[in-house]
Amino acid sequence: MNKGLAIYPGSFDPTTNGHLDLIERGAKIFEELVVAILRNSEKSPMFSVAERLEMLRELTAHLKNVRIDTFDGLMVEYAKSMDAICILRGIRAISDYEYELQMALMNRKLEPTLETVFMMPADKYSYVSSRLVREVAQAGGPVRGLVPEVVERKLREKLDPAYKFRGEMHEVLPVVLGGKEKKRKRKA
Ligand code: PNS
Repeated sequence: MNKGLAIYPGSFDPTTNGHLDLIERGAKIFEELVVAILRNSEKSPMFSVAERLEMLRELTAHLKNVRIDTFDGLMVEYAKSMDAICILRGIRAISDYEYELQMALMNRKLEPTLETVFMMPADKYSYVSSRLVREVAQAGGPVRGLVPEVVERKLREKLDPAYKFRGEMHEVLPVVLGGKEKKRKRKA
């Protein structure tokens, strides 16, 4: 059976554990899954498209049938250009349904041959959204467990540039101090 190619479009600013959960589920269903990041110049995103692309590539490296791409303009046009058979979207709670239904029906109006498939991420991520993750992180709150570790680190680096410097020093200092330690021990 040819399960075909599906597009999972979104902003992914940043990728959450819910997104990743959905990507893993989608990768099992479809022959190929293209995660497509919207290049939207109107919004002022927290992470650049290049940063989001890099993070998603790292996070999905273990999934051989998943590719990461970017698009702009109409999503259905992009999906058609990729020869996709459907669009994958996640629904966390009933509150998502109205917006998702509206979008799916508009996309169907624009391109009747393209189906939208909805999947549910694990219920433990049902309250997790990129917007709330950004809000919590910006206010200094913990986001562990809500986003993958690489995203958590990038959020910290973005919001506290000194964090990256401290991280680098943690890696360098043991080497430098280690050498001094040895010298001191020899003298004693
Ligand atoms: O992660 P998001 O922000 O909920 O994703 C929304 C996205 C990117 C899927 C949607 O805004 C989109 O497809 N935009 C591209 C422009 C388009 O085709 N608009 C018509 C959708 S009905």
